[in-house]
Amino acid sequence: MPWAGPVTPTAPAPLTSRRSGVPVSATLAANEALARRRRGGQRVLPLAFGEAGLPVHPRLREALAAAADAGSYGPVAGLPALREAAAGYWTRRGLPTEPGAVVAGPGSKPLLYAVLLAIGTDVVVPRPSWVSYAAQTRLIGTRPHFVPAAPGEGGGGGGSGGGGGVCDAEALDRAVTQAAADGRTIRAVIATLPDNPTGRLASPAAVRELCAVAERHDLIIISDEIYRDLVHDPEAEFLSPASVAPERTVVTTALSKSLALGGWRIGAARLPDGPLGASLTERMLGVASEIWSSPAAPVQHAAAVGFSEPAEITQRISRSRALHAAVARAVAARFRSAGLTVPAPQAAFYLYPDFAPWREPLARRGIHTGADLARHLVDRYGAGSLPASAFGEPEDALRLRLATGLLYGDSDSQREAALDAADPLELPWVADALTAIEDMLSDLSP
Ligand SMILES: Cc1ncc(COP(=O)(O)O)c(C=O)c1O
Repeated sequence: MPWAGPVTPTAPAPLTSRRSGVPVSATLAANEALARRRRGGQRVLPLAFGEAGLPVHPRLREALAAAADAGSYGPVAGLPALREAAAGYWTRRGLPTEPGAVVAGPGSKPLLYAVLLAIGTDVVVPRPSWVSYAAQTRLIGTRPHFVPAAPGEGGGGGGSGGGGGVCDAEALDRAVTQAAADGRTIRAVIATLPDNPTGRLASPAAVRELCAVAERHDLIIISDEIYRDLVHDPEAEFLSPASVAPERTVVTTALSKSLALGGWRIGAARLPDGPLGASLTERMLGVASEIWSSPAAPVQHAAAVGFSEPAEITQRISRSRALHAAVARAVAARFRSAGLTVPAPQAAFYLYPDFAPWREPLARRGIHTGADLARHLVDRYGAGSLPASAFGEPEDALRLRLATGLLYGDSDSQREAALDAADPLELPWVADALTAIEDMLSDLSP
């Protein structure tokens, strides 16, 4: 081929593929906005990012350091020690599990993506629900179908803000029937137990109803139980769909929240027995082998210690649960005293307050949507939050998802002190944050 002469540089064409056009996850984007403000020396109230905000437990830190020499890739599904430990974790929670039914991955987020890709059809997700389910569904080229969450019991918020994590059974039944009539195939429904964004735990009755509809329509239930160990009341009744519909439920979990190890990127999926479980496992392992090969080996060794739950780890989780409960309840109380509605938090470090009672006065300030409100809180008070629209709700819903896990302190010593405190609300930096929230609400109040 003759030489064509020098090439004149031109700008490469922008990407136009719709399938991969998913914006940066809303949570990560909000976190970056707050980081910029903090770098500029301005005060921030970090309520946007779903971090547990606690130090790494020394036992896990030592286990990780001791495994630093583990330089090989290892099996795609995870190291035997980790799969055994995760199987024991589920078995102790009333879900008998063989190590062969466990697939480990670099966080539960990629595992959920692999499950969705393995299923390959449209998926039903609750409204509201965690930002990534719908985004991942779009990434694989299928559609998320939002179905309202079952109304919550005792939430006080009413409507979609009161329940959480599990679709209303009748609405699910209708949505799947309608989708089939429209020529769409839905093979899966996602449940989050307990829930992010609402901080609520669906009742056993709501879980049973979900399972009945899943049976009727032959749906696979994907039960995201990453917050299971952070239900504030340890006596609260927790029912996993895997106990009711074991042959059609995939359960995912991770140590990101219960042990504040989000940055370690380690999670586990529990696949059902039987032919469906076998084909899902095979397909998931295909995806895993082509994307992450295997989770980081040293992290797997340390995670095996976490999932085997020695007494000191169990104690750490129960202390962190008490801290999450105390701070989430205190923040909820501030919103309630200001005249807003907020479902009582039952798990983890999330609140879902509704500013609807202030809709008219907010409109007079030019705030009409949840995104307007979230922007106003960052600009005027340095308070991060995520609008309900990030969780599949309408743009004009004035609900916000607040995450309280980053109020425990700016340093590991403050966070340790928060874990150890008889009353964390009395620590000066926690008390200051609560005062800043009160001031913000009184400034905003009509
Ligand atoms: C409901 C829910 N599921 C899954 C995840 C993903 O966690 P990871 O990938 O760290 O396991 C999160 C993180 O925020 C979450 O809130």
